[in-house]
Amino acid sequence: MSEAATPPGSVPGSGFPPGFDPAAESVEKTLCFRGFWAWAVLILLIALGISLFMWLLRKCIQGPAYRKANRIDGKVVIVTGCNTGIGKETVLELAKRGARIYMACRDPGRCEAARLEIMDRSRNQQLFNRTLDLGSLQSVRNFVDRFKAEETRLDLLINNAGIMACPRTLTADGYEQQFGVNHLGHFLLTNLLLDRLKHSTPSRIVVVSSAAHLFGRINREDLMSEKKYGKFFGAYSQSKLANILFTRKLSAILKNSGVTVNCCHPGVVRTELNRHFAGPGWMKSVLQTGSLYFFKTPKAGAQTTLRLALDPQLEGSTGGYYSDCMRWPLVPWARNMETADWLWRESEKLVGLPPLEPPPSQNHNQNQNQTQNPTHNGNGTQNGTGNGSSTNPGTREMQSVETVVVNRS
Ligand SMILES: NC(=O)c1ccc[n+]([C@@H]2O[C@H](COP(=O)([O-])OP(=O)(O)OC[C@H]3O[C@@H](n4cnc5c(N)ncnc54)[C@H](OP(=O)(O)O)[C@@H]3O)[C@@H](O)[C@H]2O)c1
Repeated sequence: MSEAATPPGSVPGSGFPPGFDPAAESVEKTLCFRGFWAWAVLILLIALGISLFMWLLRKCIQGPAYRKANRIDGKVVIVTGCNTGIGKETVLELAKRGARIYMACRDPGRCEAARLEIMDRSRNQQLFNRTLDLGSLQSVRNFVDRFKAEETRLDLLINNAGIMACPRTLTADGYEQQFGVNHLGHFLLTNLLLDRLKHSTPSRIVVVSSAAHLFGRINREDLMSEKKYGKFFGAYSQSKLANILFTRKLSAILKNSGVTVNCCHPGVVRTELNRHFAGPGWMKSVLQTGSLYFFKTPKAGAQTTLRLALDPQLEGSTGGYYSDCMRWPLVPWARNMETADWLWRESEKLVGLPPLEPPPSQNHNQNQNQTQNPTHNGNGTQNGTGNGSSTNPGTREMQSVETVVVNRS
């Protein structure tokens, strides 16, 4: 009975189909999974997989690029802190697109070297080396005076310069260095240039802030970190939060003026920003090596700034915070308008600008005064009280603020 059930040609009792040779099959298996070539193929496949993963990871780290090819021939641009890092890459790209660029740097020698290199690479001769030390309010005024004597328009202002986590030192005017350079210097610069920007509408302001603002708080009791100084989580983060609050307040002031202002986080970028890092040598080496792969290149770090500066789609878009070329929502303390108002008034005092708005308690009376006489600040005692070197703001400052008040009323 059982013999009759076995199919013809098969090995009786083996269960294998007819014509199947188990010995030959085992030889094939050996060829596939054992031996030198099998290992070589396996290692190659793993290496390819890892390389693909690393390439994709690196692509993600570098973030999106601004790819539109629009040109800005003849547009007048100021970029602060552009002899190196993100600022230098920003200038290079803008120069390739035909802009007329004022490179505002504190070290004329380094600025000249960068200018010559960028002129060579972009074939654009319209690049100018101008000295601006944001740690000195007088230097800011001198820069603006010279610029205004040279140009009647300003289409794009990029507040890029910055310092991070330096030991506690003071600016020429006696303010904590990171707050002074990253926020106050740019605050004065922007205010003094507002009339030129308004004259050149549609014009743009780009403020380079940082995700470090997430750790920051505006310390009203100790703005200059006199009582307690935290290099990164304290002073740097506070100054970068101040950049955002400044952007928010300024965008409200400039509403419907044709001048837009946006800020950004460039990403974690391999630049000289960490020059004050004071960790042990081995940690520096690890960071240096790791940053080669895990940080953005300066070119990639410039892309969000470039989108804010160039993208026609963002015409009229203002008050935003961008990272990786996209707009992001802000945490509550970075969009607190009461803090932004307070910081604006405080900054005006510290840099010696006349107040744009009366203090909240005097709002009612002052509104009446401003309607009748827009140049009257109504609070003379506040002018320049925070800064002995500039108790009498010049007519340029008065003009800038006056224009803003007139437009708002
Ligand atoms: N790199 C990052 O990962 C990162 C992350 C978030 C935000 N950011 C922001 O990106 C901006 C650009 O930084 P970066 O990474 O390109 O750094 P960077 O390579 O150190 O460049 C900073 C630039 O600012 C200039 N600068 C410093 N102090 C100045 C002053 N008192 N007056 C005028 N210019 C001054 C520097 O000039 P010198 O060369 O003469 O010092 C330099 O040109 C900064 O605002 C920074 O906070 C950077």
